[in-house]
Amino acid sequence: MNSKLRILTPGLGAVSTTLMAGVLLTRKGLAKPVGALTEYAEVGGVPMNQYLAALDDIDFGAWDIFDESAYEVAERSKVLSAEHLAVVADELREIRPKPGVFDPTWVKALADANHTKRGDNLMELADQLSADIESFRLCGERLVMVWCGSTEAYLEAQPVHKDLAAFERGLKENDPAIAPSQVYAYAAIRCGVPFANGAPNLSVDIPALVEMAEAHGVPIAGKDFKTGQTLMKTILAPGLKSRRLGVKGWFSTNILGNRDGAVLDHPDNFRTKEVSKLGVLESLLEPDRHPDLYGDITHEVRINYYPPRGDDKEGWDNIDIFGWLDYPMQIKVDFLCRDSILAAPIVLDLARLMDLANRKGRGGVQDWLGFYFKDPMTVTAGSVPVHDLFEQELRLMETVAKLVV
Ligand SMILES: NC(=O)c1ccc[n+]([C@@H]2O[C@H](COP(=O)([O-])OP(=O)(O)OC[C@H]3O[C@@H](n4cnc5c(N)ncnc54)[C@H](O)[C@@H]3O)[C@@H](O)[C@H]2O)c1
Repeated sequence: MNSKLRILTPGLGAVSTTLMAGVLLTRKGLAKPVGALTEYAEVGGVPMNQYLAALDDIDFGAWDIFDESAYEVAERSKVLSAEHLAVVADELREIRPKPGVFDPTWVKALADANHTKRGDNLMELADQLSADIESFRLCGERLVMVWCGSTEAYLEAQPVHKDLAAFERGLKENDPAIAPSQVYAYAAIRCGVPFANGAPNLSVDIPALVEMAEAHGVPIAGKDFKTGQTLMKTILAPGLKSRRLGVKGWFSTNILGNRDGAVLDHPDNFRTKEVSKLGVLESLLEPDRHPDLYGDITHEVRINYYPPRGDDKEGWDNIDIFGWLDYPMQIKVDFLCRDSILAAPIVLDLARLMDLANRKGRGGVQDWLGFYFKDPMTVTAGSVPVHDLFEQELRLMETVAKLVV
């Protein structure tokens, strides 16, 4: 492997700039890449990163609907300290987003977007994205795209999503059911660039794009980075299930004050997140197999936009459990997390592992990357994904071991 890997992010926001600054700081030896499995895991006694793009060989490219440099965004997002940002300020100032493909009906909170592409139809916009992608591919660089854009309004698969012919017709006819993130995913796959979706919106998770990814042999994965509260859920629930302790209710609430929180404050965008977060418990606890223990669970999820917190999300879980003879107990979790600090290493891992899959000719849905997602895509549409973090890790490690031989 002697060429660079360029990570392309539609969305130059808190997560993507925290990734960029983190890679640059780590490269300078000024910080540690904590939380990145690809930096700390071993495969057969060999550090996993030896099989993957080296941190020194990673570069970035981005699109956004506001024209701010990565430095300006990182400074405004207040995830990293002024001391950390000062050291990488010059490099971050050089990263400027290309104009995005956007339609405010999908993210009403960002209706003031002013750095967007224009074209007669969505296919023309996809062509413009393809031209951007090719301009990023200087001197044979390898590319990976990870959606780090805002969560789009809730969308269920429509007829236009059912196969590639219908989807391409829809792009030419400006079908209103095609979301901007789907135009990026389409352009990426057409250019042979792996696409992973960090947000809960459908994006690449539709039959048309799965078909296209398989036909072009391009890896795809999604959706919704598994960070704060859902990470905790997929650590705790398998433990409770191992002990055969019952669960009656799981109430989860969050406060969040960054731009992501402002977007999720709109009911259409929150609905997308809610659906992604609610699926987890059912598949972890298997109520059909254990009706006595998990047959009657109330599961609620709330997110409230609370500006004073910025990126420092607080997530509370109240878990009503029961034990021997049905005696009730409660568990309270209060996770004072940092959203983008948890998400940034996921983007790094995904980019490197999707690149590995691409180099090894593995196209289509990469379900072994479910470890990183709240709502993992499965190879067989509609089948129940694995949510248990420990099972997911096993699956990932086994697959990497097979891919690197
Ligand atoms: N941070 C986490 O823990 C976490 C976890 C799971 C999922 N996510 C998801 O990751 C995404 C990024 O999170 P963030 O905190 O960086 O949000 P953010 O609001 O800071 O950044 C998102 C950026 O995307 C841009 N954008 C929106 N639509 C776009 C488009 N069509 N094209 C190009 N750019 C577009 C916005 O202008 C913004 O700069 C969100 O969808 C969020 O829900 C984050």
